[in-house]
Amino acid sequence: MPSTERSRSTHGDDGRTWPIARLRERFPALRAGDTVYLDNAAGAQVPRGVIDAVTDAMTTMQVNKGGAYAASVRVTEAKERVRGRVARFLGAPSDGVVAFGPNATTLLTLLADAFGRAARPGDEIVVTGLDHHANLDPWRALAGRGVVLRTWLPRAPHMTLHPDDLAPLLGPRTRLLTMTGASNLLGTLPDVAAASALAHAAGALVLVDAVHLAAHARPDVGELGADALVFSPYKTFGPHLGVLYLGPRARDAWPAPALSFVDARSSSAWEPGTQSHEAIHGFGAVFDHLDWLAQEIGLVERDDGRRWGGVLAAGARHEATLTEALLEGLDALGAERYGLPAARGRTSTVAFNMPGRRAHEVAEHAARHGVAVAAGHAYAYDLAMTHLGLAERGGAVRASAVHYSDDADVAALLAALARL
Ligand SMILES: Cc1ncc(COP(=O)(O)O)c(C=O)c1O
Repeated sequence: MPSTERSRSTHGDDGRTWPIARLRERFPALRAGDTVYLDNAAGAQVPRGVIDAVTDAMTTMQVNKGGAYAASVRVTEAKERVRGRVARFLGAPSDGVVAFGPNATTLLTLLADAFGRAARPGDEIVVTGLDHHANLDPWRALAGRGVVLRTWLPRAPHMTLHPDDLAPLLGPRTRLLTMTGASNLLGTLPDVAAASALAHAAGALVLVDAVHLAAHARPDVGELGADALVFSPYKTFGPHLGVLYLGPRARDAWPAPALSFVDARSSSAWEPGTQSHEAIHGFGAVFDHLDWLAQEIGLVERDDGRRWGGVLAAGARHEATLTEALLEGLDALGAERYGLPAARGRTSTVAFNMPGRRAHEVAEHAARHGVAVAAGHAYAYDLAMTHLGLAERGGAVRASAVHYSDDADVAALLAALARL
């Protein structure tokens, strides 16, 4: 069972104290104490405020939007408030689209369909070998419409994407570069800004899959150079939900799936059907949580987006200390590790295998010791099975820490692995 001894605080490299004990108190699932959550890349736990906001939505605004009565006005306004906060989180321009959907995969499928409806035979898309298949297969499906796919392959041994390898894939027919902001299997942070600059110089648009990134860093569309972006609030301490951003160029290039009477340039045009209002309202409370953390660490910044980004950056410094401890412990146990060798250049997501064991065997053993980790390809199938060649091992074990993880979590995993 997990250890109940928990670190009280961890220091970031700027000398501020990360309020780990008070932070964990805010997450009911962590307080329950029966699971060591190190499968956060598959979905994160939520603070009490999010649960309360979902309850509030289902108690006081469980109606549809657009009506004249009070509950309907409430749900309409609540949604627009959260949309505004998401726009500030992303640094989205005021003429951009910020739309909600069920999850990132569905939104990427909508986007690929829109791209396909506007495409001409011979149009080219560059995808990467580092991506989750949610950002590969919808684009691959366009081959039937004459769209040509080129793949930017990661380089061995650490499976990193090099802009030098991207340049030859870009040409006058390239319409889109679509790439991950962070690998959900290896944690690697590719240089998205450098890639975007190359793609833009070739006249292409850039789509960033920020699903893994957004739990660890602010996905600032300006800094990333993203014309379009998706992320999933359920990986970012909120309810099950997806978010889509389109800048003006992408919005104008790709026809929205709008109903005939909806303004095709509006955010609503990308929200076919009724949304999960309670999930959207619940996600709003994640920004309150980030504001609480900003206060805790003494981060004074008036701009919402920069403040939330500052909090995530401080959290990532805390996470890096956990990553270092985990990597060191895995090395001591003789684990085979994948991706970058140290904590630098990555999130706190770590993929590995134990000597002579298949990945699922290790995850099942960890589960018997109360530790949640993932095993397999984590939907980054090509990366795991083809580029890393892990089919015979059944993929890899993946441990993923987030801002509320602590050194007791890492110690519990290492102790379980030592007993294999
Ligand atoms: C990097 C990445 N992209 C896309 C997805 C798919 O997200 P969703 O579950 O919201 O469809 C995931 C989910 O694990 C992911 O990690």
